[in-house]
Amino acid sequence: MINFVFYAPTKVIFGKDTESQAGAEIKALGYKKALIHYGGASAMKSGLIDRVVASLDAAGIAHVGLGGVKPNPRLALVREGIALAKREKVDFLLAVGGGSVIDSAKAIAYGITNDGDVWDLYLAKKKAVACAPVGCVLTIAAAGSETSNSSVITNDDGGHKRSYNDDIARPKFAIMNPELTFTLPEYQTMSGAVDILMHTLERYFTNDKQVELIDRMSESLMLTVIENAPKLLKNPRDYDARAEIMWAGSLSHNGLTGTGRTGDFASHQLEHELSGMFDVAHGAGLSAVWGSWARYVYKHDIARFAQFAVRVMGVEMNYFNPEETALRGIEKIENFFRSIKMPVSISELGVKDLTEKQLDEMVEKCSWNGARQIGQFVKLDRTDMRKIYQMAK
Ligand code: NZQ
Ligand code: ZN
Repeated sequence: MINFVFYAPTKVIFGKDTESQAGAEIKALGYKKALIHYGGASAMKSGLIDRVVASLDAAGIAHVGLGGVKPNPRLALVREGIALAKREKVDFLLAVGGGSVIDSAKAIAYGITNDGDVWDLYLAKKKAVACAPVGCVLTIAAAGSETSNSSVITNDDGGHKRSYNDDIARPKFAIMNPELTFTLPEYQTMSGAVDILMHTLERYFTNDKQVELIDRMSESLMLTVIENAPKLLKNPRDYDARAEIMWAGSLSHNGLTGTGRTGDFASHQLEHELSGMFDVAHGAGLSAVWGSWARYVYKHDIARFAQFAVRVMGVEMNYFNPEETALRGIEKIENFFRSIKMPVSISELGVKDLTEKQLDEMVEKCSWNGARQIGQFVKLDRTDMRKIYQMAK
């Protein structure tokens, strides 16, 4: 196990009707005026925004609203939000939505506290010196942004999707009411489930040895998602299944499953170019590329892939041929993705007939024109990236 710092300062307020506590939480933190940030339609339609507004009014918190965040949140709206928040002298960002809304709120929070262009942070040209406080009311279990240190933004100019990670952006509080996720379309629920599995898998495939406790925790987390996601195909209003998945979403990405080891995250980098260029759902994009990544790298540590196959996917260990066990594990998780109606190739994702030019563009973007390699478990250069995209086609 390697040295680590575990920093997860977000206060989690979990359960039914908890959104009514938003105003009191902001007040208790000493802030006076919030920008309520939200997405396209769902939070308005369900009456959630009205309930959150009522909670802020009751606590005497002034507020302004900014809706319209799209999945794969755009830089243009972030800039609009920065101008609005400065004009209105907002001192708190309240995100009501999913990863896209929360990431957009984090970007606005950076924008009002740092000089210069906020996009420079995402281009790794500089580091943030501060971040305004963010809180959230989560409406989809998926990205884990409600407790993570990350914000992922897409620049409409060129379709570049970039992340910026800093602990100062971790939300002050995360209100998580599983009932709020009842209205999710099935595709979004399942896409979220895949993302949660991936946040765990990205950390599970590591070169650091002796991480037994965290291995076992990661395996339970994945087993829980694999058991509960299919229940939601049958009954989207199954509170307990929603609750298990929602809590798994936060624990999979607050840093816990990465303690004592270095994660990989190559699949995430490969996927970000897909959703940046083709505007697909992030979790579905991960499900489309992960199997190809795994088949490309599994020989690097067959024993680890076999451990995953046996402990998580229920494959029987073939002691005479561990490679066969490893490959069966990859096959079984792909079958699981199919069973929850998730794609296992880029064409199934809806991006048909990917051209050579598009492949080149994705590789150039993903490798920052050759300036970086991705992945830690196995480091991947441009040639590797192209081969994986080609395999995933
Ligand atoms: O805009 P509305 O109308 O709300 O619709 C949203 C959106 O279309 C809908 N939705 C959300 N809650 C709903 C609902 N519809 C009905 N009922 C509800 N309760 O779902 C759609 C997807 O929402 P989005 O916020 O985009 O989903 P998700 O949480 O999966 O976030 C994806 C974004 O997060 C980034 C992804 O790259 C992507 O941009 N990620 C952020 C991370 C982080 N900050 O730590 C880590 C992740 O790996 C990921 O990269
Ligand atoms: Zn993710």
